[in-house]
Amino acid sequence: MRLDKYLVTLGVGSRSQVKELIKKGKIKVNNQIVNKPEQHIKEDEDIVNMEGLDLNYHKFYYYMLNKPTGVLTAVSDFQCTTVLDIMDITPKKGLFPVGRLDKDTEGLLLITNDGELSHMLLSPAKHVDKRYYVELDGTLSQSLIHSFETGFDIGEKNITKPAILEIIDENKAYVTITEGKYHQVKRMFKHFGLNVTYLKRISMGTLVLDKSLGAGEYRALRQEEVEQLLEYKKS
Ligand code: URA
Repeated sequence: MRLDKYLVTLGVGSRSQVKELIKKGKIKVNNQIVNKPEQHIKEDEDIVNMEGLDLNYHKFYYYMLNKPTGVLTAVSDFQCTTVLDIMDITPKKGLFPVGRLDKDTEGLLLITNDGELSHMLLSPAKHVDKRYYVELDGTLSQSLIHSFETGFDIGEKNITKPAILEIIDENKAYVTITEGKYHQVKRMFKHFGLNVTYLKRISMGTLVLDKSLGAGEYRALRQEEVEQLLEYKKS
């Protein structure tokens, strides 16, 4: 692939911007400054470097974001700040959040450009576990554990699929669901007269939110985290 095209693909800039960078001698290929935008590069072998930073070509990108409250789970929006707006990453084009968290929900969001993986993780048929930490405005009864296990009506076509409720104390719990209906966790507790006052997703399938990430922080997934997720594509 031509060097300028490759840099555009990586999201470094527009065709004219990357040509300018190349002309200014800012781009090295295998440690040699390259001045020709048309220079051919082998994406899988050549090491392309911009001002000291290696730019490696990946087909797919995977990040975990600890979504803060007040931010919309969307790629772009006219009015609200979105999860992509708060991420300073290159390339960003083509990335999207997998699934939705409400504006007032915090926690794990996978951000990727891997549409097939997203499809697998969100497919109702795959029953991918989503675990949340929940705080409520009232007292949790032990009897809810059984109700969550057997399912109940929250106004959808079918009753809720088996869910696991782990009560921490009278108004805090972990809940694991395999569905992703609109406001699902909130509606499940509402069914029992309880309002969710704080909600945070802590895992999705094999992917667990890194405890060191504060709200609004993110990182690229580690190789083993990606490999575990890619197993969902095979099953
Ligand atoms: N369930 C909810 O009610 N809200 C979320 O953001 C996620 C799950």
